[in-house]
Amino acid sequence: MNEQQNSNIAEGINRNLLPRHVAIIMDGNGRWAKRRGLPRSDGHAEGVNTVRRITRLSSDLGIDYLTLYAFSTENWNRPKEEVDTLMHLISWALEREIPELLANNVRMLIIGDLDRIPEGPRNVLLGCLEKTAHCTGLRLVLSLSYSSRWEITEAAKKIARRVAAGELSIDNIDEATISDSLATKGIPDPDILIRTGGEKRVSNYLLWQIAYSEFFFTDTLWPDFDGAEYRRILEEFAGRERRFGKTSEQVNPKSN
Ligand code: IPE
Ligand code: IPE
Ligand code: MG
Repeated sequence: MNEQQNSNIAEGINRNLLPRHVAIIMDGNGRWAKRRGLPRSDGHAEGVNTVRRITRLSSDLGIDYLTLYAFSTENWNRPKEEVDTLMHLISWALEREIPELLANNVRMLIIGDLDRIPEGPRNVLLGCLEKTAHCTGLRLVLSLSYSSRWEITEAAKKIARRVAAGELSIDNIDEATISDSLATKGIPDPDILIRTGGEKRVSNYLLWQIAYSEFFFTDTLWPDFDGAEYRRILEEFAGRERRFGKTSEQVNPKSN
């Protein structure tokens, strides 16, 4: 997507009503390829173009955090050939995007079990983190070898260790203790969770963090997800009333 198209899509949008944090389950790459008689890896490669498009648009709109589900803990169970292709594609594509990320002041972060990622791609990824560490614009949070249950299990271990070491008393464990022990420490909870590809499920993603996120499900396959559809979702979000357990009158006194 060129700059002109991006600015058209961003035009007229009420920036005060934009989410601060958008999380996306990028699903449907395999089906996109299959429908065209192509190998699944071609769908993943095309999905990278959508990542570029949506990252650029999020950055232009001034969104603070864009979190993308790129590879789940359960995805390790896919055929080895697909896993290997994905690891190389993800690391290679990110490295290629560094100049663009830097030009747009985008900082890359990763949540997930990096230890499981083969050394070559892992080193490339760590290099990307380092090269964009000084950027202060959009934070692009990639979920790689990530699942919520893995993250919560790790958090339980961290907290238990602190209690055992006498650094933390059980009665002082509160919601902030848990949030701060997750991989997303310091990142606000997503305002929006989008899932492409037609499935109506969460697939072990950000289970703690999406407690009050607004959900959007679209049948569009990830490689076909474009700026216009993203804009429609952002506009619908702007019109939703988020009540966080309160009544409509409490959160919006003028509607009485
Ligand atoms: C999402 O696309 C990307 C990853 C899980 C890595 P899929 O590969 O799950 O595509 P479908 O769901 O089979 O179409
Ligand atoms: C969820 O997609 C994980 C990612 C998008 C990385 P999957 O394709 O793995 O999800 P399921 O298996 O359909 O639940
Ligand atoms: Mg899928």
